[in-house]
Amino acid sequence: MFIPAQSVWLNSLFSVFSTANDNAYCPIDLPNTCTNTTAIPDSCCFEYPGGIFLQSQFWNYRPSKAGLNESEIVRELGPLDSFTIHGLWPDNCDGSFDQFCRRDLFIDDVYYRFHNGHYAGTEDLYDDMDLLWKSNVVGGDESLWIHEYNKHGSCIKNLYSECYERWGQQDELSTTDPTLLKERGVIDYFNASVNLFKKLDTYKTLEGKGIVPSTEVTYSKSEIEAALTESFEGKDVFINCNQNNELTEIWYYHRLQGSLLNEHFKPMSVYDLGKKVPFSRCKATGIKYFPKGHAPRNGRPGRPGNGGNRRGGKRGVLRIFDNNDKAIGFVIKNGHWMTKGTPANYQLIKAPFGNYNLKSRLGYCAFDVNDEFACHSKNPQDAAQFDYNEETGRIGYSNVFDWGANEVPQSTKQGKLYIAKGGADNQYKYKLDLKFVSM
Ligand SMILES: *[C@@H]1O[C@H](CO)[C@@H](O)[C@H](O)[C@H]1NC(C)=O
Ligand SMILES: *[C@@H]1O[C@H](CO)[C@@H](O)[C@H](O)[C@H]1NC(C)=O
Ligand SMILES: *[C@@H]1O[C@H](CO)[C@@H](O)[C@H](O)[C@H]1NC(C)=O
Repeated sequence: MFIPAQSVWLNSLFSVFSTANDNAYCPIDLPNTCTNTTAIPDSCCFEYPGGIFLQSQFWNYRPSKAGLNESEIVRELGPLDSFTIHGLWPDNCDGSFDQFCRRDLFIDDVYYRFHNGHYAGTEDLYDDMDLLWKSNVVGGDESLWIHEYNKHGSCIKNLYSECYERWGQQDELSTTDPTLLKERGVIDYFNASVNLFKKLDTYKTLEGKGIVPSTEVTYSKSEIEAALTESFEGKDVFINCNQNNELTEIWYYHRLQGSLLNEHFKPMSVYDLGKKVPFSRCKATGIKYFPKGHAPRNGRPGRPGNGGNRRGGKRGVLRIFDNNDKAIGFVIKNGHWMTKGTPANYQLIKAPFGNYNLKSRLGYCAFDVNDEFACHSKNPQDAAQFDYNEETGRIGYSNVFDWGANEVPQSTKQGKLYIAKGGADNQYKYKLDLKFVSM
């Protein structure tokens, strides 16, 4: 055991936090995130800019192979009568989001951290995650958790070590051990995700309206949405389907009051995102909601094994379009752009757990601190995760599809290309689109 006295203290302190209705450490009359009319600079008590908490759930029904028995299906896909957790995402108030925020908080293991005895209750939490938080890649559950925490959890400021250190000091009991402080944030991220998921029982809600998995009956988008909205304080929920019009995901949006440790999530409508409302692939009618374990004949065979969808990727070029959707240039191998000459070849590679990496001969693409696009990282860990709209070919980043430049490069000159995080306030002189064109 690792300094048991301290861990007993930490555990009792923080379990008070997560169950109490009032936060002893933050003012109780704080506005909900993303609704403040004046600045609230205390990032331990008021999450900003990522004040929208999105609890995303999967419906994965398809087993890796035919003939599995029930316990094997549950092991792969979670309980037959439950959706599973995808993640808990802090989106920015404008619907964009930050990703992979703090390298020093990244983790590469969950099993050991939850079985090292530092904090009580983590074995139980691990078992809950093992049952309910399933990857859509067989054998990839723990990789999904690590990915979700590094990509999204490390952006939640309420969980930063500085906050835990401060709460400790107020109680005249403190730890400054960076490992313990960091670990507390990791545990609280996963626990808040599981706790919120358990409150949003999509399966039961749908069942209550007669919407149950079936290989014969299909459902309409409006009946699924109406059922979920009714159970979510009347706030609109986002549902998504795959290309076969099979139900795959449900997203519940919230604002938050006080620290995430209090878990005071306030349902919000997906339509409050305005211009950034995500696009749903579900059709108005004929939505399939298959029982877990079903293997449709016409569909693709089983799901890919761990890492199975990683290799290969599409080959193509990156073209640049102006405001009028006119092609005015292309990207060269270092991520700069030109208007004359030959475009570089790019690979669009499916990243594990969604999104895409872009790679040229020089390496993976990412952004520098000034939001400048550059493609020269050898390490896949440094690769940015891009959005890709298969229909339009548009490339985005963190739900932002606006690009910009301050000059249009002439003749043999190279120009710099930026992701315009300001969206509507695109601060660049030229407002551009970036599209991947397959070859
Ligand atoms: C809300 O609070 C954040 C964090 O202090 C601040 O940056 C932002 O400007 C505030 N919004 C308004 C409208 O005051
Ligand atoms: C399901 O299959 C596994 C092995 O693949 C076996 O250990 C288990 O006993 C089976 N369960 C049932 C209920 O048949
Ligand atoms: C997770 O949250 C629940 C509910 O608030 C709490 O009882 C439990 O102790 C927490 N687990 C851990 C490991 O912190």
